Amino acid sequence: MKDFLKQVSDQETKKLLELATLALETEGDFVELGCYRGDTSLLLEKLIENSKKSKKLWLYDSFAGLPEKTKEDASVAGDEFKASELFVSKREVVERFKKTGLKLPVIKKNFFENLNPETDLPEKIAFAFLDGDLYSSIKTSLSLVTPKLSDRGIMLVHDYNNPKLPGPARAVDEFLNKNPNFRLNLFETLAIIS
Ligand SMILES: C[S@@+](CC[C@H](N)C(=O)[O-])C[C@H]1O[C@@H](n2cnc3c(N)ncnc32)[C@H](O)[C@@H]1O
Repeated sequence: MKDFLKQVSDQETKKLLELATLALETEGDFVELGCYRGDTSLLLEKLIENSKKSKKLWLYDSFAGLPEKTKEDASVAGDEFKASELFVSKREVVERFKKTGLKLPVIKKNFFENLNPETDLPEKIAFAFLDGDLYSSIKTSLSLVTPKLSDRGIMLVHDYNNPKLPGPARAVDEFLNKNPNFRLNLFETLAIIS
């Protein structure tokens, strides 16, 4: 049976974990901007703990669902993903971590636009999963993470080439135009930026 709460495909999850495993060797912590119920977050925390590396996982979400779309998110493929969709409480995510016995990551409840880059993000980032679905959410995520990204750090943006969500690809393309020193590789709807 299809799990309708699941946001990332099995193949994408496998690729994400493969890249996160490489990033274990890079200086810095792991971040996920747009953690929702914590499905991917649980896997990332387990990976870190099994590796015995002294890395931390930092999670970010409004825990109020999606913000309003902007014109860059308009899609002929449909009008799904409305404001406040994908709502989940922070408590629910905390409870899921407690049940597994994994350490609790740093969890920041806020809209990305209101985060303080100095105090709310790690000093160095080795691996970033940016899964905020919308143009402005991905644009903000890229601008928060890039200054902290280690030399060999990796950013993954979900929903690149997802016809229902054109915003992430727009934000990524704009970012790459302004930052030509970054390379783009694609895997399904994952944009791999390094
Ligand atoms: C597709 S879900 C994330 C799925 C998750 N990464 C996973 O692997 O299961 C998108 C999440 O991003 C959050 N989000 C989107 N834009 C945001 C913003 N600007 N600020 C904070 N949270 C945001 C939503 O609340 C939602 O929980």
